[in-house]
Amino acid sequence: MEIRGTTAIVTGGASGLGAATARALAARGADVFAFDLAPAIEKARAEAEPAPDAAAAPAAGPATHEGAASTTKPAPDAATVPDAATAPDAAAAPPAAPGRIAYAEVDVTDPASVRAGVERAVREGAGPLRVAVNCAGIGPSARILGRSGVHDFELYAQVVQVNLVGTFHVLALAAEAMAGQESADGEGQRGVVVNTASVAAYEGQVGQAAYASSKGGVVGLTLAAARDLAGRGIRVNTVAPGIVDTPMMATIGEEYREGLAASVPFPHRLARPEEYARLVLMLVEHDYLNGETIRMDGALRMPPR
Ligand SMILES: NC(=O)c1ccc[n+]([C@@H]2O[C@H](COP(=O)([O-])OP(=O)(O)OC[C@H]3O[C@@H](n4cnc5c(N)ncnc54)[C@H](O)[C@@H]3O)[C@@H](O)[C@H]2O)c1
Repeated sequence: MEIRGTTAIVTGGASGLGAATARALAARGADVFAFDLAPAIEKARAEAEPAPDAAAAPAAGPATHEGAASTTKPAPDAATVPDAATAPDAAAAPPAAPGRIAYAEVDVTDPASVRAGVERAVREGAGPLRVAVNCAGIGPSARILGRSGVHDFELYAQVVQVNLVGTFHVLALAAEAMAGQESADGEGQRGVVVNTASVAAYEGQVGQAAYASSKGGVVGLTLAAARDLAGRGIRVNTVAPGIVDTPMMATIGEEYREGLAASVPFPHRLARPEEYARLVLMLVEHDYLNGETIRMDGALRMPPR
Protein backbone atom coordinates (compact mmCIF):
# COMPACT_ATOMS: atom_id res chain seq x y z
CA MET A 1 0.00 0.00 0.00
CA GLU A 2 1.17 3.44 -0.86
CA ILE A 3 2.23 5.30 2.30
CA ARG A 4 2.43 8.75 0.78
CA GLY A 5 -0.63 10.85 1.56
CA THR A 6 -1.92 8.61 4.34
CA THR A 7 -2.32 9.25 8.05
CA ALA A 8 -0.50 6.83 10.34
CA ILE A 9 -0.62 6.04 14.05
CA VAL A 10 2.46 4.77 15.88
CA THR A 11 2.09 3.82 19.54
CA GLY A 12 5.16 4.18 21.72
CA GLY A 13 6.04 6.75 19.07
CA ALA A 14 8.12 8.98 21.34
CA SER A 15 10.90 6.45 21.95
CA GLY A 16 12.95 3.64 20.47
CA LEU A 17 11.33 1.54 17.76
CA GLY A 18 8.20 3.69 17.65
CA ALA A 19 10.14 6.92 17.21
CA ALA A 20 12.24 5.43 14.41
CA THR A 21 9.07 4.16 12.73
CA ALA A 22 7.36 7.54 13.04
CA ARG A 23 10.36 9.17 11.34
CA ALA A 24 10.45 6.57 8.58
CA LEU A 25 6.72 6.87 7.83
CA ALA A 26 6.96 10.67 7.83
CA ALA A 27 9.90 10.45 5.42
CA ARG A 28 7.67 8.38 3.11
CA GLY A 29 5.06 11.14 3.17
CA ALA A 30 2.67 9.98 5.91
CA ASP A 31 1.10 12.33 8.44
CA VAL A 32 2.09 10.59 11.66
CA PHE A 33 0.41 10.64 15.07
CA ALA A 34 2.81 9.33 17.70
CA PHE A 35 0.83 8.01 20.67
CA ASP A 36 2.69 7.78 23.95
CA LEU A 37 2.55 8.54 27.67
CA ALA A 38 3.25 12.07 28.92
CA PRO A 39 6.77 11.49 30.32
CA ALA A 40 8.01 9.94 27.06
CA ILE A 41 6.48 12.75 25.01
CA GLU A 42 8.04 15.38 27.26
CA LYS A 43 11.43 13.70 26.93
CA ALA A 44 11.14 13.52 23.15
CA ARG A 45 10.14 17.17 22.96
CA ALA A 46 13.02 18.20 25.22
CA GLU A 47 15.49 16.24 23.07
CA ALA A 48 14.08 17.86 19.92
CA GLU A 49 14.50 21.37 21.35
CA PRO A 50 17.24 23.18 19.43
CA ALA A 51 20.12 24.54 21.50
CA PRO A 52 19.59 28.28 22.21
CA ASP A 53 22.46 29.37 19.93
CA ALA A 54 21.26 27.03 17.17
CA ALA A 55 17.90 28.77 16.86
CA ALA A 56 18.67 30.01 13.36
CA ALA A 57 19.98 26.69 12.12
CA PRO A 58 17.67 24.42 10.10
CA ALA A 59 16.01 21.58 12.01
CA ALA A 60 17.75 18.21 11.71
CA GLY A 61 14.66 16.04 11.86
CA PRO A 62 10.94 16.19 11.29
CA ALA A 63 9.22 18.94 13.26
CA THR A 64 5.83 18.42 14.78
CA HIS A 65 2.42 19.85 14.18
CA GLU A 66 1.17 19.49 17.67
CA GLY A 67 -1.63 20.88 19.77
CA ALA A 68 -4.58 18.89 21.04
CA ALA A 69 -6.80 21.95 20.70
CA SER A 70 -6.24 22.20 16.99
CA THR A 71 -9.02 20.75 14.90
CA THR A 72 -7.85 21.98 11.52
CA LYS A 73 -5.95 19.81 9.08
CA PRO A 74 -2.34 20.98 8.82
CA ALA A 75 -1.43 23.04 5.78
CA PRO A 76 0.31 20.87 3.16
CA ASP A 77 3.17 23.33 2.89
CA ALA A 78 3.94 22.97 6.58
CA ALA A 79 5.66 19.64 5.90
CA THR A 80 9.14 19.23 7.23
CA VAL A 81 12.37 17.77 6.00
CA PRO A 82 13.01 14.21 7.21
CA ASP A 83 16.21 13.14 8.82
CA ALA A 84 17.93 11.44 5.91
CA ALA A 85 20.19 9.48 8.23
CA THR A 86 17.23 7.87 9.96
CA ALA A 87 14.87 7.51 7.02
CA PRO A 88 15.25 3.93 5.78
CA ASP A 89 15.39 3.61 2.03
CA ALA A 90 14.90 7.35 1.70
CA ALA A 91 17.12 7.42 -1.36
CA ALA A 92 15.18 4.64 -3.07
CA ALA A 93 11.74 5.91 -2.07
CA PRO A 94 9.57 7.61 -4.64
CA PRO A 95 9.69 11.37 -4.24
CA ALA A 96 7.18 12.23 -1.54
CA ALA A 97 6.50 15.44 0.31
CA PRO A 98 7.75 14.51 3.77
CA GLY A 99 5.04 14.24 6.38
CA ARG A 100 4.99 15.39 9.94
CA ILE A 101 4.94 13.86 13.40
CA ALA A 102 2.39 14.96 16.01
CA TYR A 103 2.57 13.63 19.54
CA ALA A 104 -0.68 12.59 21.19
CA GLU A 105 -0.93 11.58 24.83
CA VAL A 106 -2.59 8.17 24.69
CA ASP A 107 -2.49 5.30 27.18
CA VAL A 108 -2.97 2.12 25.17
CA THR A 109 -4.37 0.27 28.19
CA ASP A 110 -7.37 2.63 28.25
CA PRO A 111 -9.77 2.11 25.33
CA ALA A 112 -11.33 5.57 25.82
CA SER A 113 -7.90 7.16 25.53
CA VAL A 114 -7.12 5.12 22.41
CA ARG A 115 -10.49 6.02 20.87
CA ALA A 116 -9.84 9.74 21.49
CA GLY A 117 -6.40 9.43 19.88
CA VAL A 118 -7.75 7.59 16.84
CA GLU A 119 -10.53 10.15 16.46
CA ARG A 120 -7.99 12.95 16.58
CA ALA A 121 -5.85 11.26 13.92
CA VAL A 122 -8.91 10.85 11.68
CA ARG A 123 -10.06 14.44 12.30
CA GLU A 124 -6.71 16.19 11.99
CA GLY A 125 -4.80 13.83 9.73
CA ALA A 126 -3.84 15.15 6.31
CA GLY A 127 -5.03 11.92 4.62
CA PRO A 128 -7.10 8.82 5.35
CA LEU A 129 -5.97 6.73 8.33
CA ARG A 130 -4.42 3.67 6.72
CA VAL A 131 -1.51 2.64 8.97
CA ALA A 132 -1.36 1.70 12.66
CA VAL A 133 1.88 0.44 14.20
CA ASN A 134 1.89 -0.94 17.74
CA CYS A 135 5.22 -0.28 19.45
CA ALA A 136 4.10 0.68 22.98
CA GLY A 137 5.44 -1.86 25.40
CA ILE A 138 7.10 -2.58 28.72
CA GLY A 139 9.51 -5.34 29.66
CA PRO A 140 10.06 -5.71 33.41
CA SER A 141 11.72 -8.88 34.56
CA ALA A 142 10.59 -11.12 37.46
CA ARG A 143 10.80 -14.81 38.26
CA ILE A 144 7.71 -16.87 39.04
CA LEU A 145 9.36 -17.85 42.30
CA GLY A 146 11.86 -15.13 43.12
CA ARG A 147 13.91 -14.25 46.19
CA SER A 148 11.08 -12.12 47.56
CA GLY A 149 8.37 -14.70 46.89
CA VAL A 150 5.88 -15.46 44.18
CA HIS A 151 5.62 -13.29 41.04
CA ASP A 152 3.73 -10.04 41.64
CA PHE A 153 0.33 -10.77 40.06
CA GLU A 154 -0.36 -7.11 39.44
CA LEU A 155 2.91 -6.81 37.54
CA TYR A 156 2.00 -9.84 35.42
CA ALA A 157 -1.40 -8.35 34.61
CA GLN A 158 0.14 -4.95 33.85
CA VAL A 159 2.61 -6.38 31.33
CA VAL A 160 -0.16 -8.28 29.55
CA GLN A 161 -2.38 -5.20 29.74
CA VAL A 162 0.15 -2.92 28.02
CA ASN A 163 1.76 -5.32 25.56
CA LEU A 164 -1.20 -7.46 24.51
CA VAL A 165 -4.46 -5.80 25.53
CA GLY A 166 -3.11 -2.38 24.53
CA THR A 167 -2.14 -3.76 21.13
CA PHE A 168 -5.64 -5.15 20.73
CA HIS A 169 -7.27 -1.82 21.67
CA VAL A 170 -5.28 0.03 19.02
CA LEU A 171 -5.71 -2.69 16.40
CA ALA A 172 -9.49 -2.83 16.88
CA LEU A 173 -10.16 0.90 17.10
CA ALA A 174 -7.82 1.81 14.24
CA ALA A 175 -9.43 -0.95 12.15
CA GLU A 176 -12.86 0.46 12.91
CA ALA A 177 -11.77 3.84 11.54
CA MET A 178 -10.01 2.29 8.53
CA ALA A 179 -13.03 0.13 7.67
CA GLY A 180 -15.22 3.20 7.28
CA GLN A 181 -13.01 4.71 4.60
CA GLU A 182 -12.86 4.39 0.83
CA SER A 183 -10.52 1.67 -0.37
CA ALA A 184 -7.01 2.74 -1.32
CA ASP A 185 -6.77 0.67 -4.50
CA GLY A 186 -8.67 -1.50 -6.95
CA GLU A 187 -8.42 -4.49 -4.59
CA GLY A 188 -10.40 -3.01 -1.73
CA GLN A 189 -7.46 -2.42 0.60
CA ARG A 190 -8.24 0.01 3.40
CA GLY A 191 -5.39 -0.23 5.87
CA VAL A 192 -2.53 -2.10 7.50
CA VAL A 193 -1.77 -2.84 11.15
CA VAL A 194 1.73 -3.83 12.26
CA ASN A 195 2.26 -5.18 15.78
CA THR A 196 5.45 -5.74 17.72
CA ALA A 197 6.06 -9.06 19.43
CA SER A 198 9.53 -10.28 20.42
CA VAL A 199 11.65 -13.39 20.06
CA ALA A 200 10.60 -13.89 23.70
CA ALA A 201 7.28 -15.08 22.27
CA TYR A 202 9.17 -18.22 21.21
CA GLU A 203 12.18 -18.31 23.57
CA GLY A 204 11.14 -16.69 26.81
CA GLN A 205 14.11 -16.47 29.14
CA VAL A 206 14.32 -16.80 32.89
CA GLY A 207 12.46 -13.82 34.36
CA GLN A 208 10.35 -13.26 31.24
CA ALA A 209 7.17 -15.16 32.14
CA ALA A 210 4.96 -12.09 31.88
CA TYR A 211 6.74 -10.55 28.89
CA ALA A 212 6.85 -13.83 26.94
CA SER A 213 3.16 -14.46 27.68
CA SER A 214 2.21 -11.02 26.39
CA LYS A 215 4.30 -11.32 23.23
CA GLY A 216 3.10 -14.87 22.56
CA GLY A 217 -0.39 -13.39 22.70
CA VAL A 218 0.53 -10.83 20.05
CA VAL A 219 1.85 -13.59 17.77
CA GLY A 220 -1.36 -15.58 18.27
CA LEU A 221 -3.48 -12.51 17.62
CA THR A 222 -1.86 -11.83 14.26
CA LEU A 223 -3.40 -14.49 12.02
CA ALA A 224 -6.78 -14.38 13.76
CA ALA A 225 -6.93 -10.60 13.32
CA ALA A 226 -5.82 -10.83 9.68
CA ARG A 227 -8.61 -13.32 9.00
CA ASP A 228 -11.16 -11.29 10.96
CA LEU A 229 -10.35 -8.07 9.13
CA ALA A 230 -9.78 -9.51 5.66
CA GLY A 231 -13.35 -8.73 4.64
CA ARG A 232 -12.69 -5.07 5.44
CA GLY A 233 -9.51 -4.92 3.36
CA ILE A 234 -7.22 -4.55 6.37
CA ARG A 235 -3.97 -6.53 6.65
CA VAL A 236 -2.32 -7.41 9.97
CA ASN A 237 1.33 -8.37 10.40
CA THR A 238 3.75 -8.57 13.32
CA VAL A 239 7.48 -8.06 13.76
CA ALA A 240 9.28 -10.16 16.38
CA PRO A 241 12.58 -8.34 17.03
CA GLY A 242 15.62 -9.86 18.68
CA ILE A 243 17.69 -7.32 20.59
CA VAL A 244 17.43 -3.75 19.39
CA ASP A 245 19.47 -0.81 20.65
CA THR A 246 16.71 1.34 22.19
CA PRO A 247 16.13 3.05 25.56
CA MET A 248 14.48 -0.22 26.69
CA MET A 249 17.96 -1.80 26.50
CA ALA A 250 19.76 1.19 28.02
CA THR A 251 19.62 -0.18 31.56
CA ILE A 252 21.79 -3.21 30.84
CA GLY A 253 25.49 -3.00 31.64
CA GLU A 254 28.14 -2.60 28.94
CA GLU A 255 29.65 -6.03 29.57
CA TYR A 256 26.28 -7.78 29.31
CA ARG A 257 25.51 -5.76 26.22
CA GLU A 258 28.74 -6.84 24.54
CA GLY A 259 27.93 -10.44 25.42
CA LEU A 260 24.49 -10.08 23.87
CA ALA A 261 25.95 -8.58 20.71
CA ALA A 262 28.49 -11.39 20.42
CA SER A 263 25.71 -13.97 20.79
CA VAL A 264 23.99 -12.78 17.60
CA PRO A 265 25.19 -15.11 14.80
CA PHE A 266 25.34 -12.29 12.23
CA PRO A 267 25.72 -9.38 12.32
CA HIS A 268 27.51 -9.41 15.72
CA ARG A 269 25.67 -6.43 17.10
CA LEU A 270 22.34 -5.24 18.41
CA ALA A 271 19.81 -4.30 15.74
CA ARG A 272 19.23 -0.63 15.01
CA PRO A 273 15.77 0.90 15.46
CA GLU A 274 15.96 2.05 11.83
CA GLU A 275 16.23 -1.60 10.73
CA TYR A 276 12.96 -2.33 12.50
CA ALA A 277 11.35 0.74 10.88
CA ARG A 278 12.51 -0.43 7.48
CA LEU A 279 10.73 -3.76 7.99
CA VAL A 280 7.55 -1.96 9.03
CA LEU A 281 7.64 0.07 5.80
CA MET A 282 8.01 -3.15 3.84
CA LEU A 283 5.10 -4.79 5.68
CA VAL A 284 2.91 -1.78 4.93
CA GLU A 285 3.95 -1.47 1.29
CA HIS A 286 3.89 -5.17 0.39
CA ASP A 287 0.25 -5.97 -0.37
CA TYR A 288 0.66 -9.75 -0.27
CA LEU A 289 2.09 -9.94 3.24
CA ASN A 290 -0.75 -10.69 5.63
CA GLY A 291 -1.25 -12.63 8.86
CA GLU A 292 2.50 -13.11 9.25
CA THR A 293 4.98 -12.68 12.09
CA ILE A 294 8.52 -11.98 10.91
CA ARG A 295 11.53 -12.40 13.17
CA MET A 296 14.20 -9.72 12.89
CA ASP A 297 17.01 -11.17 14.96
CA GLY A 298 20.24 -11.87 13.05
CA ALA A 299 19.50 -15.62 13.48
CA LEU A 300 19.62 -15.27 17.28
CA ARG A 301 17.88 -17.94 19.36
CA MET A 302 17.73 -16.84 22.97
CA PRO A 303 19.17 -19.27 25.54
CA PRO A 304 17.35 -19.92 28.86
CA ARG A 305 19.25 -17.07 30.53
N1 LIG B 1 14.38 -3.07 22.24
C1 LIG B 1 14.33 -4.38 22.07
O1 LIG B 1 15.37 -5.08 22.12
C2 LIG B 1 13.03 -5.08 21.79
C3 LIG B 1 13.07 -6.43 21.40
C4 LIG B 1 11.89 -7.08 21.12
C5 LIG B 1 10.67 -6.41 21.24
N2 LIG B 1 10.66 -5.12 21.62
C6 LIG B 1 9.36 -4.47 21.74
O2 LIG B 1 9.34 -3.32 20.91
C7 LIG B 1 8.44 -2.36 21.45
C8 LIG B 1 9.15 -1.02 21.56
O3 LIG B 1 10.22 -1.16 22.46
P1 LIG B 1 11.42 -0.12 22.56
O4 LIG B 1 12.65 -0.92 22.68
O5 LIG B 1 11.29 0.89 21.51
O6 LIG B 1 11.12 0.47 24.01
P2 LIG B 1 11.05 1.97 24.53
O7 LIG B 1 10.97 1.83 26.01
O8 LIG B 1 12.13 2.78 23.94
O9 LIG B 1 9.65 2.48 23.96
C9 LIG B 1 8.44 1.99 24.41
C10 LIG B 1 7.47 3.14 24.48
O10 LIG B 1 6.18 2.63 24.86
C11 LIG B 1 5.59 3.62 25.68
N3 LIG B 1 4.53 3.06 26.50
C12 LIG B 1 4.65 2.23 27.57
N4 LIG B 1 3.45 2.00 28.10
C13 LIG B 1 2.54 2.69 27.36
C14 LIG B 1 1.15 2.86 27.42
N5 LIG B 1 0.41 2.27 28.39
N6 LIG B 1 0.55 3.65 26.51
C15 LIG B 1 1.26 4.27 25.55
N7 LIG B 1 2.60 4.15 25.44
C16 LIG B 1 3.23 3.37 26.34
C17 LIG B 1 6.74 4.13 26.53
O11 LIG B 1 6.42 5.39 27.12
C18 LIG B 1 7.86 4.21 25.52
O12 LIG B 1 7.93 5.49 24.91
C19 LIG B 1 7.96 -2.94 22.79
O13 LIG B 1 6.72 -3.56 22.61
C20 LIG B 1 9.02 -3.98 23.11
O14 LIG B 1 8.51 -5.00 23.94
C21 LIG B 1 11.80 -4.43 21.90
